[in-house]
Amino acid sequence: MKKKKIVILTGAGISAESGISTFRDSNGLWRNHRIEEVASPVAWHDNPLLVLDFYNIRRKQLFEVEPNAAHCALAELEKKYDVQIITQNVDDLHERAGSTKVMHLHGELKKARSTADENLVYELDSWELNWGDKCEKGSQLRPHIVWFGEAVPMIEEAARICMTAEIFMVIGTSMVVYPAAGLISYVNANSPKYYVDPMASRIGDISNLIIINGKAGTVIPRLVNDLLK
Ligand code: OAD
Repeated sequence: MKKKKIVILTGAGISAESGISTFRDSNGLWRNHRIEEVASPVAWHDNPLLVLDFYNIRRKQLFEVEPNAAHCALAELEKKYDVQIITQNVDDLHERAGSTKVMHLHGELKKARSTADENLVYELDSWELNWGDKCEKGSQLRPHIVWFGEAVPMIEEAARICMTAEIFMVIGTSMVVYPAAGLISYVNANSPKYYVDPMASRIGDISNLIIINGKAGTVIPRLVNDLLK
């Protein structure tokens, strides 16, 4: 029998209980820089060492943290459902928890790519990416991240996937960064849409929206349990 399709949009909040700080809960600042000023093509042009440092610190932290109960519960959902995760997160905690279909809208921290050819993408086996690390064509490598001001290459495919959702979930995202935040509007009006976040509130005129104010690590295992019954 064909499995029911669940599409899940996740943000920084799902990884908060693993020990990765979210963007906007910490005032969106890093060493007194606004995140937007570090994660941008302009920053890369003006101060690449600062940008490399910013992502190296994040990558190092990623090697030290583990998936939490929410990531693990979502992996369990695959027992009964066709689950597609669309994450804004650049960590690999969904994959490490066992989820098999994960789309990274904003890139991946453990990958680097060539500044000369965006198709040359490399897995990093250590946390450090340095100035002078080059691709096979001899050009500097940059973090494989979609920066502010850059296009989101997978957004059209993500929108198509959202159209097929029979159940939709939004977990741990402030829903302020577009185009990701707009994906919910592609979901069928009749499909239930759960929004799990301690700060969740109504989103425009979205129908069948079920708001659950709570932490992902507590709420998601319960919700998954109910869906698996
Ligand atoms: P934000 O930092 O904007 O929002 C994090 C959300 O997580 C907030 O709504 C919190 O209330 C919620 N939250 C905190 N703790 C939680 C918990 N334990 N369980 C569930 N939710 C919790 O992060 P994003 O919405 O992911 O882009 O930000 C979107 C994008 O903006 C990011 O992908 C990043 C950022 O700048 C790029 O880097 C391109």
